[in-house]
Amino acid sequence: MDSEEIIFKLNELNKTSSQLNTQEPERLEMIKSVTDYANQFIAGLDSVKAFNDKEADSLEITNQKRSLNALLELYQKEVAETGINAASGKHLGYIPGGGVFTAALADFIAAITNPYASVHYASPGAATIENEVVNWLKTLFSFPNNSVGCLSSGGSISTLIAFTAARDKHKVKNESIRKNVVYLSEQVHHSTQKALRIIGLEDVIIRYVSIDINHRIKTDSLEELIEKDISAGLQPFLVVATAGTTDTGAIDPLSEIGTIAKNHNMWFHVDAAYGGFFIMTSKKALFKGIEKADSMIIDPHKGLFLPYGVGAVLIKDSTAVLHSNYYTANYMQDGASEEMLKSPANISPELTKHFRGLRVWLPLQIHGIEPFIACLEEKLLLVNYFRNRLAELGFCLGPEPDLSVSYFWYPFETDSDKKNRQLMDEIHADGAVFLSSSIIDNRFVIRIAILAFRTKKEIIDEALAMIQNCLKKVKLD
Ligand SMILES: Cc1ncc(COP(=O)(O)O)c(C=O)c1O
Repeated sequence: MDSEEIIFKLNELNKTSSQLNTQEPERLEMIKSVTDYANQFIAGLDSVKAFNDKEADSLEITNQKRSLNALLELYQKEVAETGINAASGKHLGYIPGGGVFTAALADFIAAITNPYASVHYASPGAATIENEVVNWLKTLFSFPNNSVGCLSSGGSISTLIAFTAARDKHKVKNESIRKNVVYLSEQVHHSTQKALRIIGLEDVIIRYVSIDINHRIKTDSLEELIEKDISAGLQPFLVVATAGTTDTGAIDPLSEIGTIAKNHNMWFHVDAAYGGFFIMTSKKALFKGIEKADSMIIDPHKGLFLPYGVGAVLIKDSTAVLHSNYYTANYMQDGASEEMLKSPANISPELTKHFRGLRVWLPLQIHGIEPFIACLEEKLLLVNYFRNRLAELGFCLGPEPDLSVSYFWYPFETDSDKKNRQLMDEIHADGAVFLSSSIIDNRFVIRIAILAFRTKKEIIDEALAMIQNCLKKVKLD
């Protein structure tokens, strides 16, 4: 093709391709539509159900253009109104979500400006924001200055990064995998076992350490297992503790576990994905010893009430992290002179990634830290209030939790598990407030997980009224 033909063709293509470069009048109109939609959605949160047991429909991609307003209508019906409403304060199941508004603005700005946050050379500002969030976390958990960390998409990926560093530091390689031992409690989040499988450690020996009535690891039992394994010629390599178990809200005795790990030259990992930010509250003492961890994970999309998609991992041994994640290539030579640790890409498997630091940094700058702490304290009190009221209504309760997750069941005279399951079904069918269930100590239980920033006393009262109503139905059945 000669130049003239190319220019002709480019002009032709531009008539269509330039449609992607939305112009200001249309941008203003679209922003207004989205703002109106967001305001309507937020205003409606108090009056809509937390759970709709409904399938999503009509979301296929066709080549037919649709207007933003039509799509927002579709989104409301097929996305916002199906399943769990995770932005709602009435979400009291699993680990509730968040959705602080200022974090959404940060995402908008990050998407518009699209800086390359993974490589310091490519965006010193964005990489610095990512690193400043990590530095803030290091201070919060008394991790030393020379530890490293990065922001991930969530707890599961953070665990992968931490365990990969542990594996590489301890040189757990093909021939030795079957001799290496990992110590967990049955209360670890399943992303722990999943991570071991994904990073090629499926064949390590996993020991489940006994737990006490509060669902915390028994350290004498941990010590015993380790000694026994050493005597049998095995290699204790990793111990995983949890600061805020998903099912029971318990914090393992971190300091003692840290000491045991150190004495046996093991990697000590703490999963603080759900519970970590409670270190800023009146529960601080329970986190004593977390600073002994070789690695820890924490999820701002849980305890900082941010929208889904931001976790963090902190790791003390930067050499192990770099061993797993630092690579370079000819096409990256312009960035190669930068100090390695300034670039998030060297701490994480991700190269190009969402600039997620901004959605943590901006809300902390705008609101300051106090409202986050107040919100966490509120959740601790609300779980107490919920438990007190449930006890008055004749429910049995799990042990007093360390944090804001607990569980209960109704002591039906016969078929207790079956009837509590029925009660759960009634609660889901009602949907006004969402709760989820679990099996704890071989018993079917209903969980209370209070973490959404919009959960207030009125919502707990609504949950209690709904539970009473549902209980009546089960009793009549
Ligand atoms: C204690 C704990 N660890 C890890 C995870 C996994 O985090 P994510 O869902 O962000 O991958 C969860 C999720 O709820 C959790 O509660």
